[in-house]
Amino acid sequence: MTELYPIDPDHIDGEVLQKAAEYLRAGKLVAFPTETVYGIGANALDRHAVNRIYAAKKRPKSDPLIVHISDIKQLADVADEIPELVWRLADSFWPGPLTLIMGKSAKIPDNVTSGQSTVAVRMPSHPIAHQLIDLAGVPVAAPSANLFSRPSSTSGRHVLEDFDDELDLVLDGGESTIGVESTVISLMEETPMVLRPGGLAFEDLQAIIPELRLKSSYAAETEVVSSPGMLLKHYSPKAGLMLFDGQDESAVLQQMISEAEKLATSGQRIGMLVNTNQRSKLPTHQWIVYELGQKDDLASIGRSLYRGLRSLDESAVDIILVSAPARQGLGLAIWDRLYRAAEGNVIQVG
Ligand code: TXA
Ligand code: MG
Repeated sequence: MTELYPIDPDHIDGEVLQKAAEYLRAGKLVAFPTETVYGIGANALDRHAVNRIYAAKKRPKSDPLIVHISDIKQLADVADEIPELVWRLADSFWPGPLTLIMGKSAKIPDNVTSGQSTVAVRMPSHPIAHQLIDLAGVPVAAPSANLFSRPSSTSGRHVLEDFDDELDLVLDGGESTIGVESTVISLMEETPMVLRPGGLAFEDLQAIIPELRLKSSYAAETEVVSSPGMLLKHYSPKAGLMLFDGQDESAVLQQMISEAEKLATSGQRIGMLVNTNQRSKLPTHQWIVYELGQKDDLASIGRSLYRGLRSLDESAVDIILVSAPARQGLGLAIWDRLYRAAEGNVIQVG
């Protein structure tokens, strides 16, 4: 049985957290909130516990995990090649939604990094995550708490939706405030490269790394890639997803509406993932509409993105229609998740 504990991030119950920390030390799986999304944690130094993560998620062993720390001193245990840039980035952005890839320490079992010589490290800022790692006294390997290729979980309820008895304990600390995963940067290339856009904006990183590049190619599913999380089919709702992209917002919306009408005529159950502005312009209809937030409020759109995808899935829609945000700030990460959920099914308008 999975034990479930509601826990208030503002008044953390020390006993509950102590129990969760003991579980981690004992090789058990503990799901916990972070500021980005929920994670399934295991002691990163315990290869058996780490194996259980892959099994629970049905995740290919070739997709490496992020090691979470709560104190910069722990870097010495997880990494042995620490580029100078790590210290500068950590200074500015840790704790927070940034994952750094560096040379792996021999203390980290091979299954954490899928046999690679590099390790991904992040220091989360969420008080529950932070204190849990601190109390556990070990680095914590944690992927997002969703079944492989499903939308990530941003609440305890979503975690329980995806897992039955595979987890030992779930800390339900309410909604994640950012809602999309951390930005992953590799510092092991000649020029630092963003492998996954995320909760920390590319522009903010550029202020410290002017030469920063963005990995822009999305690998086909069969290709062998260095960051397997970059596979195209990812973050997918059960429903199909059509992503509409274009400069002219009203033309994009018109196209979405006429496509929805067409699909509805052919008997499909339609889900619309829209911003507040778009919603006010939708005709009355039979469609299931989920509102993400104000058009320019990317923080709110980011926070509700996975919740929206999951909610439309719960309504058993066949297809979800959504428009692409501008690829700036958090918009880049939102665009990336939608693009992959669409599996390349992008409708260019104009
Ligand atoms: O916000 C987050 O990062 C969340 C929370 C729980 O911290 N975690 C998360 O983990 O999103 P996961 O496992 O869902 O995604 C980890 C990503 C994957 O794309 C994986 O391929 C990449 O990080 N990754 C991990 N280790 C890597 C490595 N050594 N080299 C390249 N990519 C790596
Ligand atoms: Mg994930």
